[in-house]
Amino acid sequence: MRTAATYRLGVPTAPDHDAWRSYDSVVDAYARVRADRNAALARDLVAQVAPPFTGTVLDVGAGTGVAADVALTATGSEGVVVAIDPSTAMLRAERQPSVLRAASAAPGLPFADATFDRVVANLVIAHVPEYEPVLADMARVLLPNGRLGVTVWGSLGEGPPVDDTQDRAAHQAWNTAAAEFASIDDLDAVAAAGTPWDDFFDDPANLRLALEGAGLRHVEVGGRAYRYRLSLDDWLTGQDTTYRSRFLRQRLGDDRWTEFRERARALLAAAVPDPVDCVDEALFAVATKPAGRRRDRP
Ligand SMILES: C[S@@+](CC[C@H](N)C(=O)[O-])C[C@H]1O[C@@H](n2cnc3c(N)ncnc32)[C@H](O)[C@@H]1O
Repeated sequence: MRTAATYRLGVPTAPDHDAWRSYDSVVDAYARVRADRNAALARDLVAQVAPPFTGTVLDVGAGTGVAADVALTATGSEGVVVAIDPSTAMLRAERQPSVLRAASAAPGLPFADATFDRVVANLVIAHVPEYEPVLADMARVLLPNGRLGVTVWGSLGEGPPVDDTQDRAAHQAWNTAAAEFASIDDLDAVAAAGTPWDDFFDDPANLRLALEGAGLRHVEVGGRAYRYRLSLDDWLTGQDTTYRSRFLRQRLGDDRWTEFRERARALLAAAVPDPVDCVDEALFAVATKPAGRRRDRP
């Protein structure tokens, strides 16, 4: 099984060790450009788990709280919606005061067994060193008959191919600029360390198996493409939130980072129109916790 240690071996170092792993340094960029994009997925995810009115919902790896916010509209103000994330900076960007926040991570969720009607994790389970204990802990805090939902980047591979020509060209331009400032192998190793399960969960069958492995049943897996149009400045700001960029920025320092940004902006402008058409493809998996058998009472 792949573990954090496996990946750390191949991860290049940057000054200040592993600070690039945390989202703390990119909250502003995330909240301004990335959160809205993730909110589109969050709306679909929460609709699929369908939180009950006045119910309890846990958003794991909530970040700025995009899924928690949608859940709160479903539960109403008498519901209890909790957002947990290891990055307090991300949690601080949550704008909905009725969402309860806690700095925490999975596994190790600070809740009793069978606490929540619904547990969701939007774009989180590919980021953790080991996904099994994370899903098991999420299932642990779920009430019997409760529903758990997760999303990952990936495609069902069905239907007509999605046209991502401009998005690909934008990434290519960014990579060309990055290669002038760092080794692309190093950046690839950093990305693999940040999201160790990206490739694994790109296969819908693995997503299904992962939820079944956590003891959940009636697993439903679906997928959807989200198209949007971004100014080149916003595209670049969104790219700043990636592990590759966070590592590069940390390694280059302020002056060289500014140089890199200018170079990337120039190559982008030469490669793609402004605004640029982008596409995110996501997989959804929703499952139910079995009710289990009632024990005989004495
Ligand atoms: C790609 S962001 C998604 C944030 C948010 N769910 C959204 O849709 O915008 C991944 C989030 O997972 C958090 N995270 C990383 N490891 C985690 C863990 N073990 N348990 C809970 N959250 C974690 C990160 O701090 C980050 O906020």
